[in-house]
Amino acid sequence: MTRTIPFRVLAPALLRDPLGAVDRIGVVSGGDPVRLNLGGMRPWLVTAPADLEHVLIHNRDNYVREGWLWRPLARLIGDSSDDRWWTKREVFARLVSGPSIRDFADEMAAAVTAAVEEMAARGAAGRPLDAGAEMARLVCRIITRVLIGDKISNAEADLLGARLMAASASVRPRLMFPFVPNRVPFLGDAAFRRARRGVDELVFPIVRAARAAGPDGPDIVSRLLEARMPDGRAFTLRELRDGMVSLFVAGTETTTIAMTFLWTILDHNPQVREALQDEIDRVVGDGPLTGAHLAELAYARNTALELLRLYPPGWMLPRTIVADDVVGGVPVRGGGLIVMSPYLTNRLPHVWDRPLEFDPARHETRHGRGARRPTFAYLTFGGGPHACVGKPFFLAEVQMILAAVLSRFRLEVQGSPSARPTLGLTLRPRENARFVLTRR
Ligand code: HEM
Repeated sequence: MTRTIPFRVLAPALLRDPLGAVDRIGVVSGGDPVRLNLGGMRPWLVTAPADLEHVLIHNRDNYVREGWLWRPLARLIGDSSDDRWWTKREVFARLVSGPSIRDFADEMAAAVTAAVEEMAARGAAGRPLDAGAEMARLVCRIITRVLIGDKISNAEADLLGARLMAASASVRPRLMFPFVPNRVPFLGDAAFRRARRGVDELVFPIVRAARAAGPDGPDIVSRLLEARMPDGRAFTLRELRDGMVSLFVAGTETTTIAMTFLWTILDHNPQVREALQDEIDRVVGDGPLTGAHLAELAYARNTALELLRLYPPGWMLPRTIVADDVVGGVPVRGGGLIVMSPYLTNRLPHVWDRPLEFDPARHETRHGRGARRPTFAYLTFGGGPHACVGKPFFLAEVQMILAAVLSRFRLEVQGSPSARPTLGLTLRPRENARFVLTRR
């Protein structure tokens, strides 16, 4: 039976308690497609792994990443749906894939260790630190040192991070009102233009100087400079700028949300925290953190995966339907919208055993436990042609941050912050943890 959740039910529920409303939609749908009557929009919500496989793989050309969410974002990161994007995507993927991470793992370990020491200096003498601000700084520092290298200073990188955050915050009203065309003036526009100008003032000189000097290393700008489109053309200055900015945006915002949440969730799961500490003491001890440790920090990796199973920062992924099709036995119309939800799929009770329990061990692959689940049971990093290329980079980052912090410091979260997230355009902590660091 085709189900539609009516506007008169959905609208007040979403306004009152968005997360509670999404939880209830998950229960009502039971994994089948449901139509959400949001007034101006009536997207289909698709959550079952087999239906996701249809949308993301088998009939993927029929579900494009355009329109809602993407149109306003294009003003910040450039278009990510045209032919040039595939060349850019290939460059990103090569840069942050598993094999490349082995090449720069030692550099990453050094960058993480230095950034954690800086954080400890800010928290000297028991001064409480805000997890949100600290993780933003840490993540920005790591991606900059590892992926942009000496083309940008730490101070410039912090400024770039802050301006990008301001730009993405000011584009939010547009994301909430998708029917307003970019050319019609709207709330947040002036702040957005200011922030984007600030981003451009930092990034254009970097890419211009890099182009004049030529590619000289494994950083993102050099790699983009070397890349050629299928017709042999090199990237223009604007495309180089868009490439650097989109990698920076993709690699910082979601990771910062996840890292901020991590400390709260560990505080709520002391047995996980203990197992992590044991692993880190055994693997790293009091020696310096190195790239070689990554392969041995399996529990840390599984903790990161479990964190993002229950709390995927991108909790919904929209696609525009090109032509009429049938998904999960339900006819869907061309021109309409499909919304996939990592949050709901990752918690489906008929796919996940004890879905609401935080259990890193469920991601162990050693005994084939994880291998028995369908491909799209875990949707946090998307799938198909636009799947996240940064997953290995993210996992390495979390492993190293955990190891660098917990091998040297005792981290105490203050005041037991809530583990219930808040849901807006992203799923994020309701309140940022505050913590105190003491050297071990
Ligand atoms: C918490 C960590 C992360 C999460 C949850 C995440 C999630 C995602 C998701 C869901 C998509 C696909 C969007 C869609 O299909 O509509 C995506 C795309 C992407 N991610 Fe990530 N990501 C994370 C970290 C990273 C990192 C660290 C990098 C790079 C260093 C990165 C680079 C990218 C890029 C370049 C794309 C675009 C791929 C394309 O459109 O072809 N991500 N990410």
